[in-house]
Amino acid sequence: MATLPENEHRANCLRAAMAAVEPRLRQVEAFIAGELAAGPTVIEQAGTYVFASGGKRLRPALLLLVSRLLGYQGHKDVRYAALIEMVHTATLVHDDIIDHAAMRRGRVSVNRRWGNQLTVLLGDWLYTRSMEIALEVDDLEVMRVLSRATIQMIEGEVLGLSLQGRLDITQEQYLEIARRKTAELFAAACCIPSLFEDSFGQYREVLSEYGRNLGMCFQIVDDLLDFTSSEAQLGKPVFADLREGKLTLPLILALPHLTESQRAAVAQVAAQGSFADLNPEELRHWLTELGALEAARRVAAAFGERASELAGKLPESPEREALAAAPWYVLDRQS
Ligand code: IPE
Ligand code: IPE
Ligand code: MG
Ligand code: MG
Repeated sequence: MATLPENEHRANCLRAAMAAVEPRLRQVEAFIAGELAAGPTVIEQAGTYVFASGGKRLRPALLLLVSRLLGYQGHKDVRYAALIEMVHTATLVHDDIIDHAAMRRGRVSVNRRWGNQLTVLLGDWLYTRSMEIALEVDDLEVMRVLSRATIQMIEGEVLGLSLQGRLDITQEQYLEIARRKTAELFAAACCIPSLFEDSFGQYREVLSEYGRNLGMCFQIVDDLLDFTSSEAQLGKPVFADLREGKLTLPLILALPHLTESQRAAVAQVAAQGSFADLNPEELRHWLTELGALEAARRVAAAFGERASELAGKLPESPEREALAAAPWYVLDRQS
């Protein structure tokens, strides 16, 4: 456990760096709003709804932070930060159809409000428009990074779907899903600025690896929050993963230590898609008692520490300090 002054130092570094990129983050918002306004009316309405509902803007913030760290002076950072957030949002709205989620970012989900048909189209529009914008400036290498991350994400969702309802999913399979569906987009967000100028290229690998490790940490924490948080706090449903038949790390770690009847109860939730016969609080209690929540947190922390170490290989700067501190923000996040 970090001491308090260390925590405070980290929080201060992050806050200062975030304040420095805040004006550019506002330009990202304006860029996205402009894109939506140029789309068909219903895309603009549903798109504005989901973007205006909130969201941490973590991926664009990372891209802007890295651009600043590298000393980038142009305008591409705002454009690509917007594209990354558009791709992320496309995945979220599609994911909510796949997961039958009724709530996102503290509001009724797009699928619940506008229906699956429009939601599929909104996601498609966001994906495709992102690629088109990247093409407009002829950045083929950035296009390649973005489309690869997007394909990985879709393949991660496909892999997750193919293992839905399976109690025998391994830790390796779980980590592979997390890497594909989440960590690769973090890797793309962090490495894209290294493609803005030839002299930045030397940091490409470190930045990708940094983003990948931070993304793994982020997804494992997301899966922990599904067991430990509340809908009010998260702005999305809790205990939803098992209900959707998705076994995540805490449960994968606990499963061999559960009794036969506990395991049967877990299997039933996954099969029925409901907690009708098991109180979710009880499940949380089992996971706590077995130390599975703590163990999963340690795995997340290990990825976070690795990310922090990698940040140490970047040029010395306030942004480097902020990137090194970011895993602690992710590990402590409540929403
Ligand atoms: C949610 O991502 C999807 C995961 C990768 C777990 P975020 O938690 O970053 O979602 P918003 O953008 O803040 O709503
Ligand atoms: C992350 O998985 C979603 C994608 C990156 C596609 P989750 O299914 O855990 O995301 P939430 O919990 O719905 O935000
Ligand atoms: Mg989901
Ligand atoms: Mg989740």
